[in-house]
Amino acid sequence: MAVILKVRGTRDLLPPETELWNRVEATTRALFARYGFGEIRTPIFEDTQLFARGVGEETDIVSKEMYTFTPADDVGRSAGRVTGESAGLPSRDEKAQSLTLRPENTAGVVRAYIEHKLNDIGTLQKLFYIGPQFRRERPQRGRYRQFWQIGAEVLGPAWSGAESPLRDAEVLEMLATLLDELGVRGWQLDLNSIGSTTDRPRYLAALRAALAPIKHQLTPDNQRRAETNPLRVLDSKDPRDQALIEALPCIADFLDEDSRSHFDQVKAALTACGVPFRDNPRLVRGLDYYTRTTFEFTIPDGSGLGTQNALLGGGRYDGLSEMLGGPKAPGIGFAIGEDRLILALEAQAEQESPVERKLDAFIAPMGISQNSAALVLARELRAAGLSIEVGEGAFRLKRSFETADKLAHRMVIVGEDEVASDLFTVKHFSRGEQEKVTRVGLAEALRR
Ligand code: HAM
Repeated sequence: MAVILKVRGTRDLLPPETELWNRVEATTRALFARYGFGEIRTPIFEDTQLFARGVGEETDIVSKEMYTFTPADDVGRSAGRVTGESAGLPSRDEKAQSLTLRPENTAGVVRAYIEHKLNDIGTLQKLFYIGPQFRRERPQRGRYRQFWQIGAEVLGPAWSGAESPLRDAEVLEMLATLLDELGVRGWQLDLNSIGSTTDRPRYLAALRAALAPIKHQLTPDNQRRAETNPLRVLDSKDPRDQALIEALPCIADFLDEDSRSHFDQVKAALTACGVPFRDNPRLVRGLDYYTRTTFEFTIPDGSGLGTQNALLGGGRYDGLSEMLGGPKAPGIGFAIGEDRLILALEAQAEQESPVERKLDAFIAPMGISQNSAALVLARELRAAGLSIEVGEGAFRLKRSFETADKLAHRMVIVGEDEVASDLFTVKHFSRGEQEKVTRVGLAEALRR
């Protein structure tokens, strides 16, 4: 029968790689706690309108990459085939609801913020999430159709200080600390300000004027965007458009006094904290909700990510809550591509010191009558904090040796004599030595 394989662009994460994922997540959670963040878990699917409005109709994400569906029962319902209204189902004329697997989590967090009236609490909300996102992109190393993000959002009413440049600097300083704590080497922070809703119109006018005479030379997608959403032309990845894009006006030249001062304060605070950054006036991000500060952390070529070297991205989104029908609630956040972070850490570890991950010991029962005794010993040693695998008494000695050598640093032989005398033979593979150890001294001997 044909084997069923995983869907293109998805991945199975297996041990020992999952250990690294758990370690990264544990370090991150501990760090987020130190900065006052609490965890939020929003649904994996949301109303399609949330992303259309929040992320933007003209973005690549919304226009090309979303997994959107209308549940079959909803379709039936809207066609008037539903009979179960009394069971609490929506009425016959309710429209079928289009749903989308979340391509990112910021829109979902802000929706939840509005829905749960978190603005009324009045203090700054610092929320983090870890979970899968879905985008139908062309899969390659570091780019998947289901990928994981570790993200965080800081938002609140204006009087909570959510708009302060201090918040931007704090988020960026936290990210620099996190990457350092995780041991990511060679990261680079690119920073830009893309202006606010007040200075953006002047820039858009200049951009439209510059695009008008060259529009016909752009690729078809960008010809359309030049009309509908000219900012999106700037984040085109199509190499055929790059020379034209390079020559377009820069937002940095259009910032008003407020935006400029906000940006200067972010940079001054980062400098004071000793966080290195690079001013990158060409940095635009592929989502419509951004205002003012935007940023990306990348790692250098040769770090295992190839062209997908953006480890994380984020920025300020001062108007997003209002775009989603909520109160004014300025905010800033980021999302780390966890798959990419792990690939980078693995490549780094490989270069620096290829690690051989092994258990502390393999317990080898000599005959099936010793299986229970072996399990009891494993139970004691695991309780003492050691990592243990147990063999099988039906194995021949040679097979036990080979398995133990593959899995563990040492092998403990459990034969009839050993159990009777409570004196066990321990073989240390790396030292090529063997010793007899009493039951009480065993945990200590295996730890050495
Ligand atoms: P984003 O730049 O679209 O921003 O995604 C953030 C990060 O997710 C990227 O830098 C990358 O590391 C990772 N990523 C994106 N797409 C893929 C993929 N197909 N495969 C693997 N990794 C991927 C956002 O999603 C915003 N919500 C970030 C944010 C939070 N802005 C403010 N708050």
